[in-house]
Amino acid sequence: MLDMKHLSKIYRTEVVETYALRDFTINVREGEFVAVTGPSGSGKTTFLTIAGLLEEFSGGEYWLDGVDTRGLNDRQRSRLRNEKIGFVFQSFNLIPDLNVFDNIDVPLRYRGMPGAERKRRIHAVLERVGLTSRMRHYPSEMSGGQQQRVAIARALVGEPRLLLADEPTGNLDTHMARGVMELLEELHRGGATIVMVTHDPDLAARAQRQVHIIDGTIVELTADPRLVREERGEGEGGAAAATGGAGRGAQGGAPGTTPAKV
Ligand SMILES: Nc1ncnc2c1ncn2[C@@H]1O[C@H](COP(=O)(O)OP(=O)(O)OP(=O)(O)O)[C@@H](O)[C@H]1O
Ligand SMILES: [Mg+2]
Repeated sequence: MLDMKHLSKIYRTEVVETYALRDFTINVREGEFVAVTGPSGSGKTTFLTIAGLLEEFSGGEYWLDGVDTRGLNDRQRSRLRNEKIGFVFQSFNLIPDLNVFDNIDVPLRYRGMPGAERKRRIHAVLERVGLTSRMRHYPSEMSGGQQQRVAIARALVGEPRLLLADEPTGNLDTHMARGVMELLEELHRGGATIVMVTHDPDLAARAQRQVHIIDGTIVELTADPRLVREERGEGEGGAAAATGGAGRGAQGGAPGTTPAKV
């Protein structure tokens, strides 16, 4: 589903070059729920913005759902993003002047979908996140947890194959965070592929697989043992090698870790 090989991302200013990602290799399979952890500034958001085609990378490869993203122009990238990816941010990113219904409508309008179909989808997704009764509320009239559920509804309404969440519970109290996490878990059970950045070790532990990023490189990767067995059983080269290799690295002390950042 999401396949990055030896990817690098360099931010250049006049005086310094920062490697936000280096030799970054990850394979997220369809239907996986992956939690990404790592210190501040380690490259987690950079990873998600590149994964979401919001930003270009400097070197290496990124295949999204079998498509080589390197050769795409801006229009092709936008289309692919709109078709396949849903985004949830820590800060919700709702439009304050639009009510709940209209916020969720934004990506559908962008697709040029007919009104009746948009309405049907918005009602269905609102029911799913439990906010049907808040349809005409504005973001400022709702709690943080409710706003995040609207943001998730907006991410889901286009039925994306891949949901990318950057600290979706970062601005929520424990109770609300649990509600959002339960919603993500429900989506996962429904077949969605989810990559979630979080600072919360308890939430990370609930994901199927955990990826740790330090200084722009994946240094540790633990997988649900059942998943590793499945992958080995299928004998699928790339994913099995990636998971198995990193698993061994994690057990034996990850090799080649933490290169000094420029
Ligand atoms: N637009 C930019 N220009 C220059 N450097 C950047 C830019 N965006 C990110 N960086 C640098 O890239 C590195 C990775 O940043 P990133 O935002 O991916 O970290 P993060 O792991 O998401 O951190 P946090 O947990 O604080 O959100 C940092 O050193 C940061 O300073
Ligand atoms: Mg970040």
